Amino acid sequence: MTIRLATDQDAAALADLARRTFHDTFAATNNPGDMALYLAQAYGVEQQAREIADPRVTTLLVDEGSSLIAYAQLRNDHVPACVTDAGAIELWRFYVDAEWHGQGVAQRLMASVRGEAKRRGAQTMWLGVWERNERARAFYQKCGFTVAGDHIFLFGTDPQTDLVLVTSL
Ligand SMILES: CC(C)(COP(=O)(O)OP(=O)(O)OC[C@H]1O[C@@H](n2cnc3c(N)ncnc32)[C@H](O)[C@@H]1OP(=O)(O)O)[C@@H](O)C(=O)NCCC(=O)NCCS
Repeated sequence: MTIRLATDQDAAALADLARRTFHDTFAATNNPGDMALYLAQAYGVEQQAREIADPRVTTLLVDEGSSLIAYAQLRNDHVPACVTDAGAIELWRFYVDAEWHGQGVAQRLMASVRGEAKRRGAQTMWLGVWERNERARAFYQKCGFTVAGDHIFLFGTDPQTDLVLVTSL
């Protein structure tokens, strides 16, 4: 297993992994129309190519053999009001392919994410997690994140409550 920064060559494989993992995670618990709308907005080769090229975004990929099995993206964008460190960096996306859950991939990726976030000068990392995503919440708690507040995440047409979690780096 190798963890590395994405390059423009990875856009198509990342778009495919990102769409699949998002669908696998949220399809069973959400309206298909909202899912279709969100997938069309968020994922596609051009969209992921733009993200990889964006200097405000760091994209980390996990390869196993010739396949991408996980990815994470850090983003310097806005900081929610409930996060007291105005210089906090966002862990924007963090997804492991379902067949690799529970095998330590997520822990290794989180260690690399922390390293990249510190390299970018951050002392705090924040993220939004759907209040009903129990597995992710348990994982982030194990990683030392705590609840700072909440915010609304627009999933298609459905405004959902995301918990805002923070951790020191
Ligand atoms: C979130 C994610 C990265 C965590 O990686 P992982 O390999 O599954 O994590 P782990 O198995 O180490 O930890 C998950 C914990 O949740 C527990 N868990 C599993 N299902 C659960 C559930 N339904 N409710 C509560 N806890 C649950 C596991 O037992 C484990 O805790 P333990 O180690 O104390 O037993 C991975 O599950 C994933 O990619 N999920 C889909 C994408 C996603 O939700 N991303 C986060 C978006 S904010």
